[in-house]
Amino acid sequence: MKVDLPARESGKMIWTRRHLLGLEELHPQEIVTILDMAEEFTDSGGNRPRKRTNLRGKVVVNLFFEPSTRTRTSFGLAARQLGADTIDFSSSGSSVSKGETFIDTAKNIEALGIDLAVVRHSVPGAPHLLSQHLNCGVVNAGDGAHEHPTQGLLDIFTIRQVKGHVEGLTVGLVGDIAHSRVARSNIHGLLKLGARVIVCGPSTLIPPTVERLGVEVAHRLDDILPLCDVVNVLRIQFERQRSGLFPSIQEYSRLFGMHSERLRRAKPDLLLLAPGPINRGVELTPEVADGPNSAILKQVKNGLAVRMAVLYLLAGQPPEA
Ligand code: CP
Repeated sequence: MKVDLPARESGKMIWTRRHLLGLEELHPQEIVTILDMAEEFTDSGGNRPRKRTNLRGKVVVNLFFEPSTRTRTSFGLAARQLGADTIDFSSSGSSVSKGETFIDTAKNIEALGIDLAVVRHSVPGAPHLLSQHLNCGVVNAGDGAHEHPTQGLLDIFTIRQVKGHVEGLTVGLVGDIAHSRVARSNIHGLLKLGARVIVCGPSTLIPPTVERLGVEVAHRLDDILPLCDVVNVLRIQFERQRSGLFPSIQEYSRLFGMHSERLRRAKPDLLLLAPGPINRGVELTPEVADGPNSAILKQVKNGLAVRMAVLYLLAGQPPEA
């Protein structure tokens, strides 16, 4: 029977962390704890999880120094679904343009009485830096090419939901591995839960040392596709690339894009993920992005439950009797 209050204790793990900065630092059981808690927040019937009061009286701020659609909106909704008050800060239009520093900006907002700061920044390690300067909890909502832990968690949650398990699955991460924080969070999380991970892309988009993380490397998508239970298609991060790292978008699409013809080489029940936003016609053709193997919008929906679980574990309280 589901209880109204998910205990901040799941299985053998009692949650003790104040910050979520990456999946690299988490114990596998901590990842399972978040996934199990997200299941508690998943509504089987309605459009979204029902409202709770576990964060009543708390204030959650979105501190976004980079653009976002999914992460920002779902963290805001997750906080409100748990009864928190929310502040939505974006660097554009703020006093950052007058020269106020990142840490000063965050400390001034914290002075309003913040319990949790959800931080996105282009600089790797920026959320970690804030966790050393603020008293409130900090959640990494994406830091440069380092990590995007809640995206990794919602990808893994979706895999577990669709496939029933993660251990023993072969997961292909395809595309711009070098610039992708989603790739890094997926790699850490999936390996900790016992998946086999193959990264695939042009050699210019795969870091030379990536195998040290425990993944296999491939450069021909058609060779690995028949092996994969899941493929997570990563966006080309044009905004993080300094110069052209492949001859043309058309050639990239021909060699690494997911299109109907290529999909015929895959297992029929291949689970196709993409963190979004997608460059339609580059990494995925529209018929594949919107087709039966795609779980792209399921990922977005699951992101709400996963973010509720993270906020709850970091700052939630039992509801009043
Ligand atoms: N996947 C993801 O992080 O999307 P946004 O950049 O829109 O938040």
